Amino acid sequence: MAARILLIIGGGIAAYKSLDLIRRLRERGMSVTPVLTPAAGHFVTPLSASALAAEKVYGELFDLTDEAEMGHIELSRAADLVVVAPATADLMARMANGHASDLASTLLMATDKPVLIAPAMNVRMWEHPATRRNLATLRGDGVLTVGPDEGAMACGEFGFGRMAEVPEIVAAIEAALGAGPLAGRHVIVTSGPTHEPIDPVRYIANRSSGMQGTALAAALMRLGARVTFVTGPASVPPPQGAVVARVETARQMRDAVMAALPADAAVFAAAVADWRVLNAADRKMKKDGTGRPPALEFAENPDILAEVSRLPVQRPQLVVGFAAETDDVVEHATAKRARKGCDWIVANDVSESTGIMGGAENQVTLISDAGAEAWPRMGKEMVAEQLARRIAATLAGGDI
Ligand code: CTP
Repeated sequence: MAARILLIIGGGIAAYKSLDLIRRLRERGMSVTPVLTPAAGHFVTPLSASALAAEKVYGELFDLTDEAEMGHIELSRAADLVVVAPATADLMARMANGHASDLASTLLMATDKPVLIAPAMNVRMWEHPATRRNLATLRGDGVLTVGPDEGAMACGEFGFGRMAEVPEIVAAIEAALGAGPLAGRHVIVTSGPTHEPIDPVRYIANRSSGMQGTALAAALMRLGARVTFVTGPASVPPPQGAVVARVETARQMRDAVMAALPADAAVFAAAVADWRVLNAADRKMKKDGTGRPPALEFAENPDILAEVSRLPVQRPQLVVGFAAETDDVVEHATAKRARKGCDWIVANDVSESTGIMGGAENQVTLISDAGAEAWPRMGKEMVAEQLARRIAATLAGGDI
């Protein structure tokens, strides 16, 4: 794809990754025009950026030669997409406030093209209320974001603030250009727990945080998919950019999934309650003074995964379920796949000794027609990334 990228490199240690980004974008046939902020020049040299891009590097706003060759207004509009990587706290603040004090900020003010930022900064700076405000303003203005990731930082601290890895930024760029492998595809993702009411103030729930489903939806969108995200009351916010349907009960989740069809793929990451309270009260249940607890009757909830897998029409091309097991993982998950009629089951061992439940890492086994494929232990974000890529490849190949 011969897309043109205007790459603004901010002044942070992550600037070295942007040199690799230039190479990866060029490998994909894109052209890259680098702009270095004055601070970026302390981290990478204009010469390396220019050599890798095979283009002139821009730096100063009032460089008359540049103005003669290409004015800053023209420069800001010649690209199909403006990418800011790394986007420092300072650059984000200037963008959010509409400054036009140097070439980078002026280009960002003057452009009529979409803008994607890859923030990178110390974890305290990322969590500072001013940065949170600026991020919200920028997102409200339609600025796209990728990352930051969690991890060890060059400054020696650990947390969110590390710039997204280059492949992640490339995927976000492709998605922003409508060019990802899932462009034009619709994927439904269920996520989080369900709440089944006992009375107006009490409910039955489970400990699902919604983290894996959210990471998966974000990864699918980075590959260009349109995602309908059907979520129970999760503890993490839904991913930016998805069409979000908020539900509480399993039956509401089922209705929202059915309403979202047709879809090319459906991924069921929600921890759906198997049972609902049949005799839920419409008023708060009171103690009756006898000391006898109320007897709750249960009814089975619809099995959304099984129902969608067996739809005579409108069955998505690829239906994926999850299975959290504590023993005989592969046998149980293989049986579950057959019982539910889905194409894949993503199984994991959630017994306490693995540390997976509530932890940052996961070790999954993908069960498909081809058998059981054990993936190495990796971060939950990476599981999402790999799964999204596998979904994209499968939809493209038509071979499940
Ligand atoms: N699922 C669903 N609707 C339900 C129950 C489960 O869509 N009512 C989906 C989950 O989102 C998950 C998969 O089915 O993708 C497996 O969920 P799980 O709770 O492990 O399956 P169960 O049918 O409850 O199996 P078991 O109780 O035997 O473990």
